[in-house]
Amino acid sequence: MKIIAMTNKKGGVGKTTTALSTAAYLGQSGFSVLAIDMDAQGNFSQASGAKRDEAGTFDFLRDTPPENCIQKMPKYDLLAADSRLSRAEKEFDQFGREHLLENALKRLKGYDYVILDTAPAMNVLTLNALTAADAVVVCCQTDSFSLSGLDDLMGNIALAKQYYNPKLSVAGILLTRYNTQTKISEQATALFQAKAKEFETRVFSTAIRENVAIKDSQMRQTDIFSHSPTCHAAEDYAAFTKELYVVLGGDKKKWPKSSPKQNSESSPRISIHRQPQPQTRKHTIRRR
Ligand SMILES: Nc1ncnc2c1ncn2[C@@H]1O[C@H](COP(=O)(O)OP(=O)(O)OP(=O)(O)O)[C@@H](O)[C@H]1O
Ligand SMILES: [Mg+2]
Repeated sequence: MKIIAMTNKKGGVGKTTTALSTAAYLGQSGFSVLAIDMDAQGNFSQASGAKRDEAGTFDFLRDTPPENCIQKMPKYDLLAADSRLSRAEKEFDQFGREHLLENALKRLKGYDYVILDTAPAMNVLTLNALTAADAVVVCCQTDSFSLSGLDDLMGNIALAKQYYNPKLSVAGILLTRYNTQTKISEQATALFQAKAKEFETRVFSTAIRENVAIKDSQMRQTDIFSHSPTCHAAEDYAAFTKELYVVLGGDKKKWPKSSPKQNSESSPRISIHRQPQPQTRKHTIRRR
């Protein structure tokens, strides 16, 4: 069971969208997935069309049997957030409170992946996510605020690793809402790559393009692959999920054969290539 947290203290950078798309793609590819909404905003739960007023993350953290808290969604199982999570700081005030999720997850068996969506804050729920996770994906928009916030965030992750979770690794930085029309995105990518090197991690070679279909799918409470399987964002999230699978030690050859075809010649996904690519590939940015 691999536990992956999508994180950044900065808001609106695509954590929830990434968590949802990754969980959905792993699920539809044949893996057994549990998604956990660790954000009191409950955006993941809402976008999944989860039932309200049912037991969920809050109860799971309080030792309620998992089978009483988990909702079955078509592609993944879900521990949903509700408004009680906003009281987490007060409710979970006992000694060792950073380990509640880690301990609760020990009761689970049979999942290949657990995907954690976190809040835009280093609160007790995010600390629980970092304490339980094997790896974090740092979601960033290619702007200067995301870049300047990285030092602080990476410092927090290093402290979580030191004090709570020695096995924690940074799987990489995922560039989201990528704008192919501007030179700035390309220049910012080089700066993110330099930062990633400094922190001994990587920028994922897949960047997620800005795509209005994402908002549509969330309004309709479905994932991007069910909503619009050939759109840019679906292609990018499929490619990212496969890349993440390999980064976390998965064997490329063992990716389930039932995985739907996502690539189309007409709309190549964004790749941050190590080698220069032919001029004809319009949506290609290069690793410097
Ligand atoms: N690739 C994309 N293209 C277009 N819109 C996107 C894309 N990714 C995310 N969005 C939109 O950007 C907004 C923020 O995304 P999201 O909620 O995933 O970010 P977040 O980091 O989880 O935010 P928060 O910090 O508030 O939890 C949402 O309205 C979402 O629909
Ligand atoms: Mg979110």
